[in-house]
Amino acid sequence: MIIAIDGPAASGKGTLARRIASHFHLAHLDTGSLYRAVARDIRRHGGSLEDASEAAEMARRLDAETLSDPGLRDPGVGDAASIVAKFPEVREALHEFQRDFALQKSGAVLDGRDIGSVVLPDAHVKIFVVADVEVRARRRYSELLTRGEPVTFEGVLQSIKGRDDRDMNRSTSPMKPAADAHLLDTTKLDIEAAFDAAVRLITRKIGQQGCP
Ligand code: DC
Repeated sequence: MIIAIDGPAASGKGTLARRIASHFHLAHLDTGSLYRAVARDIRRHGGSLEDASEAAEMARRLDAETLSDPGLRDPGVGDAASIVAKFPEVREALHEFQRDFALQKSGAVLDGRDIGSVVLPDAHVKIFVVADVEVRARRRYSELLTRGEPVTFEGVLQSIKGRDDRDMNRSTSPMKPAADAHLLDTTKLDIEAAFDAAVRLITRKIGQQGCP
């Protein structure tokens, strides 16, 4: 079984994807970490995030062993990832890795922005997670405060709005729900309620399709 979970920054899709993968015994790939790692590598080499050919080169040379680097979650890396993610050459270079991951025997859950719409259009279940931007900013703000990061709510809100704008309006693979995606609004749901709703949806869908 292959499950695609897409949605904007801080919508809760990452936590949801991890919980779903564990519940259904599927492998999990946070595809945002690929774009974050490309941005990290460009910065390490002193390059420019706006240089498409350098970004594509970094994407082609990406070392999958480095995807669990905690530095990928540092403030600012998400914004940087969203900048390099607009280049079609970068997206193309990362697609094969994502598709190969999805095709492994155990089945997989991939979360991102374009998984249901572009990377895995044949996924058995597609969920697009949404939540009000203020609620998302509040969640990300609390998370960063817990980590001891020196952030302000206003700063986090502006960063998320900027990211939404870039991710939705780029010309290649913009963030949008696939036509057959199920919308899951987590504005008023905590993670347990969102998880329960997603499991119900997936179980119903598996029953209808009889998929592996
Ligand atoms: O999911 P995330 O916040 O870690 O993603 C960081 C950025 O990477 C996001 O703002 C846009 C880009 N991204 C993308 O373009 N496509 C994906 N499938 C995943 C992430």
